Amino acid sequence: MRVENPKMQAAFAELKVEHRAGERLADWTSLGVGGRTDILVIHEPRHLPELARRLDAEAIPRRFLGGGSNLLVREGELPWVLLHLSAKETQPEFRGNRVRVAAAADLGRTVTECARRNLGGMEGLIGVPGSMGGALRMNAGAYGIEISQFVKTVTLYRAARRAIETVPAEAIGFHYRHTSFDADDIMVAAELELPERPYEEIRAAIKVCNEKRRASQPLNEKSAGCIFKNPAGASAGKMIDELGLKGHRLGGAVVSERHGNFFVNRFQATADDLLGLIDFVRQRIRQAFGHELEEEVIVWT
Ligand code: EPU
Repeated sequence: MRVENPKMQAAFAELKVEHRAGERLADWTSLGVGGRTDILVIHEPRHLPELARRLDAEAIPRRFLGGGSNLLVREGELPWVLLHLSAKETQPEFRGNRVRVAAAADLGRTVTECARRNLGGMEGLIGVPGSMGGALRMNAGAYGIEISQFVKTVTLYRAARRAIETVPAEAIGFHYRHTSFDADDIMVAAELELPERPYEEIRAAIKVCNEKRRASQPLNEKSAGCIFKNPAGASAGKMIDELGLKGHRLGGAVVSERHGNFFVNRFQATADDLLGLIDFVRQRIRQAFGHELEEEVIVWT
């Protein structure tokens, strides 16, 4: 969707919004798939309520794009503009063993910056691609930990109230790869509390996680991480592997030979290739194991 309206152009200048017209989502997502639209890069999150108000006044539909690492977007001209928080100037702010992290900050970099201050706990999240905001919204987890374990407060743009609010962790429902935030809420920052640990110890734990991940996940191919959530008591990747579906190809999309729950864009896949592969695998798992796999990746069709 293109915003050509001069009134909106003036609003963007006033609200420090950088208007990037006709961007390809394939360039903004780790899967490398997705059509075109305008991206509004927000440099001052405090302007979010006013920006939302102006977009509403012009009936411009919008969605929020975070780090793009867990997203499958369809092709063609997309029917929404995308809001995106600028990752510039997102240095964490430390106060004792608490740290305030901007939602646009890179998650992995945050883990290492905390480590340098002898703050650990998040080692398992080191290789999880994407932003802090995406990690909060999805309650990212790996190697036995979830981001929610460390969250004290979340500052967010609460769409229902059209305001930026800071809420305590206790008021947020954090579940397995799911949270109680509304779909149109926008994460702005989080305050985390981390256990103190010597840097060398944290670094060693990070190394172990990196090695495990490198050995079991296709890190040098385009993917959106795990495609399906694990059903209670079962592993989607293991079931896909047991059915011999690794290497199965549909168009340009392939079930990774390294991890069955990663679908990779190896041969210029389209969104339809990936969606077709998702349906095919889901059906095979249903027939063989009776589990109805739910997508972990966010799909915009
Ligand atoms: N397995 C296989 N074949 C495969 C994949 C896995 O046999 O192709 C087996 C493994 O050997 C292991 C079990 O299945 O015994 C579980 O595999 P793994 O340790 O790789 O964990 P997972 O349940 O497949 C989850 C998260 C990952 C996270 C890892 C590491 C989900 C959907 N996935 O994967 O998160 O990195 O644990 O903790 O919860 C993501 O969220 O996108 C993601 C990749």
